[in-house]
Amino acid sequence: MEHLLIKSAKKESIERIPVWIMRQAGRYLKEYREIREKYDFFTMCKTPNLAVKVSMQPIDILDVDAGIIFSDILIPVEAMGIKVTFEKDHGPKLHNPISNYSDVEKLIIPEPEKDMPFVGESIKLFKKELNNRKPVIGFSGAPWTLASYMIEGGGSKNHLKIKSMMINDPRAFSLLMEKLTETVIKHLYSQIKAGSDLVQLFDTWAGVLSPKEYNDFVFPYQKRIIQELKKLSDVPISLYINNSGNILEKMSDTGADVISLDWMIDIAKAKKVIGDKVSIQGNLDPCYLFGEPEFVKQKTLDILNIFGKNTGYIFNLGHGILPNTPVENVKLMVETVINF
Ligand code: CP3
Repeated sequence: MEHLLIKSAKKESIERIPVWIMRQAGRYLKEYREIREKYDFFTMCKTPNLAVKVSMQPIDILDVDAGIIFSDILIPVEAMGIKVTFEKDHGPKLHNPISNYSDVEKLIIPEPEKDMPFVGESIKLFKKELNNRKPVIGFSGAPWTLASYMIEGGGSKNHLKIKSMMINDPRAFSLLMEKLTETVIKHLYSQIKAGSDLVQLFDTWAGVLSPKEYNDFVFPYQKRIIQELKKLSDVPISLYINNSGNILEKMSDTGADVISLDWMIDIAKAKKVIGDKVSIQGNLDPCYLFGEPEFVKQKTLDILNIFGKNTGYIFNLGHGILPNTPVENVKLMVETVINF
């Protein structure tokens, strides 16, 4: 039996629209915060029992249509040789950022089963616990977004350092992108081998480039990752870029099965532009979940009404769910999709 979410990703006929939420295991859930009080974030990612426990929470609490494995896009970055810590309320900090060719040369391409075995172990345990009740989503950051963290040393507003390397040191930039591409292919393939039913590629910061630069410096690597994985398995692949309104058509040329939209895009327009080619996911503004229940319900219905009961759409937010989001509103959103 194929799961609803996988069928909609592959544009096969469905009984209703599926729903999951980016960052669905996270701080908006008190059950998550209770466990998080006792362990640091990376310890949770690296301990299959804990990772699976929190991955299961949104399934038990919200009854969403898929589980996503609890991990982070920076796990393989650490395995490549960069020290990563999470500072309270400041996001990730990378302690030895990349600044030149020789830094890039020193990076290793991790063997997932040896260098981050807990990822595959968590997926296998998660599959076992779910007992085929729901599909499991695996994921990876994509090269541009991972390179941005590695070069900037953390989150960045202008992405000046990575753009400077791209412009002034193309040799270092392309070797870094090559190494990351290799790393991401191995990372995702090992998650597929461990049992992932769909994988999502997060290129969150690829929307900070012009369409021409996206085309020249980012798209080829995304496409190669997707094409290589397509040779190895038929697991559907979803691609998320924040601020991607100008590059939707190009994104759909990567070969991704699903394009995951941010909230700034007119979803009816996106459906017209790429809806025949690929499946579409997402788009509800995460901030809308802080509105009155009637508003949450209406905004959810507005999106659902664009697709009707047709396949080729997966309900989700336009970016990760925010800390402090009222859980009652999240439940209302999920129920609205399920009952539509
Ligand atoms: O979706 C899920 O539930 C699976 C788990 C998941 C996390 N991070 C857990 C997490 C996924 C898919 C990610 C992806 C991720 N991580 C992205 C791409 C998607 C996006 O949101 O743009 C990025 C850019 C990161 C890097 C990252 N990790 C940042 C910037 C931060 C700090 C900001 C924040 O929300 O705290 C993290 C930490 C992080 N990753 C947390 C979680 C649950 C919070 C950790 C905590 O409990 O303090």
